[in-house]
Amino acid sequence: MAEIVVVGSANIDRTVVVAHFPEPGETVTGGPVAAGQGGKGANQAVVAARFGRSVAFVGRVGSDADGRSIRADLRSEGVDVSYLRDSPGPSGAAFICVDPHAENFIVVSPGANALVTREDVAAATDQLVQARVLLVQLEVPLEAVKAALELAVGVRVLNPAPARPLPEDLLSRVDVLIPNTSELGTLTGTTCPSAHAEIAELASILGVDNVIVTLGADGALVINHGKYQHLPALPVRPVDTTGAGDTFCATVADGLARDLSLIVAAKRAVRAAGRATTAKGARPRVPLSP
Ligand code: RIB
Repeated sequence: MAEIVVVGSANIDRTVVVAHFPEPGETVTGGPVAAGQGGKGANQAVVAARFGRSVAFVGRVGSDADGRSIRADLRSEGVDVSYLRDSPGPSGAAFICVDPHAENFIVVSPGANALVTREDVAAATDQLVQARVLLVQLEVPLEAVKAALELAVGVRVLNPAPARPLPEDLLSRVDVLIPNTSELGTLTGTTCPSAHAEIAELASILGVDNVIVTLGADGALVINHGKYQHLPALPVRPVDTTGAGDTFCATVADGLARDLSLIVAAKRAVRAAGRATTAKGARPRVPLSP
C-alpha cells in the first residue's frame, strides 16, 4: 500500500525561453522547444517518490504517444500507476514560456485530465483509506477532488492550483492547504496583501486549520488558526520556477508521511523548492534534500 496517494493531472510540457512575455497581440520569437514530463499531480507524485516514499497516482492519460510516455515515465520513477486510466483522445499538454527572470507563463490544455471521475477515485479506495497522506490539486475535475477528500483517512493536503473559488464543504475536508498568494486571492475573492500579518489574517477566513502560503523569493508563511510563522527562502539564483510549487507540496507530503511536524515539513519544503528553481524544467534532477 502507498504512503502517499496523489489524485491529479499529468501533462507533457512544451517549454520555450523568451526574452520577455508577449503583450496581447504581440508575437515574440523564443528559443528551441524543450519537451518534458509535467502536470501538477504527476510532478508532485514523482518528487515524493524521489524522496523515497511509496506513491500511488490516480489520474488519466490519453490514447496517444504522450499518454504512453507519461505512463512509462511515472513507472520508471517508481510511482504506482495501477489507478492511471487510459482515455480516448489526447493527453494533457502544457505550453510554457520562461523569461530571463525565471518566471513562467503556463497555458494548459487538459485533455484526458478533464475526464478523471469520482469513480476513478473510488477505484483507489483501498489505497486512500490506508495512505498516510492524500495530495490533490485542481487540474482535474472538482468532483474527483471532492471524492478523494471524502474517502481519504490520512492527512489531506490540497494545493489549490490552478485556483478557483471553492465551496466550504470541500475546504472543510482539507487538513493542510498550500496556495501561493495569487491563489489565496482567488480563493478569498480579493487581492492578496503583501504584509505577512495581513496574509495570515486573510488565509484564516478560509476556515482550514493549517495553511501554508508560498511567497516565492520571500519563502513561506505557515498559518495555524491565525497564528503564523515566516520561513525565509533559501538564497538561490533561479533559472526556472516551473514546478517549484509542486516540489514544495511534495516535500510537505513527504515530511508528513515521515511524521514530521508541519513546521519542520514546511522548512524542508522551502529549501527543496528553492533548489528546484536552480535548473530547467518542472522536475529538475537536482538534490532536494535538506
Ligand atoms: O506546476 C507546473 C506544472 O503546471 C507544469 O508541469 C504544467 O504541466 C502545469 O500543469
